[in-house]
Amino acid sequence: MDLVEAAPEQTHRLRSEVLAWASPAIRIDDGAEHLALVDGAAVIGAVSHVTWPCPDEPGVPARYFWAMAVDCAYQRRGCGRRLLAAVADRARTQGERVMWADARESAVGFYLACGARVAGDPYVDEGTGLSVRHVVFRLDG
Ligand SMILES: CC(C)(COP(=O)(O)OP(=O)(O)OC[C@H]1O[C@@H](n2cnc3c(N)ncnc32)[C@H](O)[C@@H]1OP(=O)(O)O)[C@@H](O)C(=O)NCCC(=O)NCCS
Repeated sequence: MDLVEAAPEQTHRLRSEVLAWASPAIRIDDGAEHLALVDGAAVIGAVSHVTWPCPDEPGVPARYFWAMAVDCAYQRRGCGRRLLAAVADRARTQGERVMWADARESAVGFYLACGARVAGDPYVDEGTGLSVRHVVFRLDG
């Protein structure tokens, strides 16, 4: 599997299936970058990320990531961890010391296994209607 920069359109099928988005395009912001894991012609993993402050680490240069998705047939094989590492690499390149996300409750265990801490209380994401909470990675050291 290769990790590549992707256009957001290339990730729509995967994200529609895995994240149950009716219209993933509404969540893709200008200025964001998009990473994809590809197996041949198939996009089997994706994450988007952008420089954005973290409310739980005020004043610390930070990167926000969202819409992490791994094809069901490829889950629990290290793809998600690899995507997170790629976002962390890009954050460090920009001098950022934190990366963070709004994690749906079912994925919080994944982020904890990859070294995150949870911050703040759960709340309902207006876009998805799901209960989410902040997960925060320190990138020092
Ligand atoms: C969450 C998701 C991205 C994880 O990707 P993945 O490729 O399956 O994860 P990995 O194989 O890299 O797992 C890394 C670690 O997290 C653990 N893990 C993975 N999913 C987990 C979960 N749901 N709960 C608890 N731990 C989990 C793995 O066991 C592994 O731990 P280890 O290295 O100590 O053995 C993927 O399951 C997915 O796309 N889920 C549906 C969409 C979703 O919830 N996206 C996140 C939105 S916030």
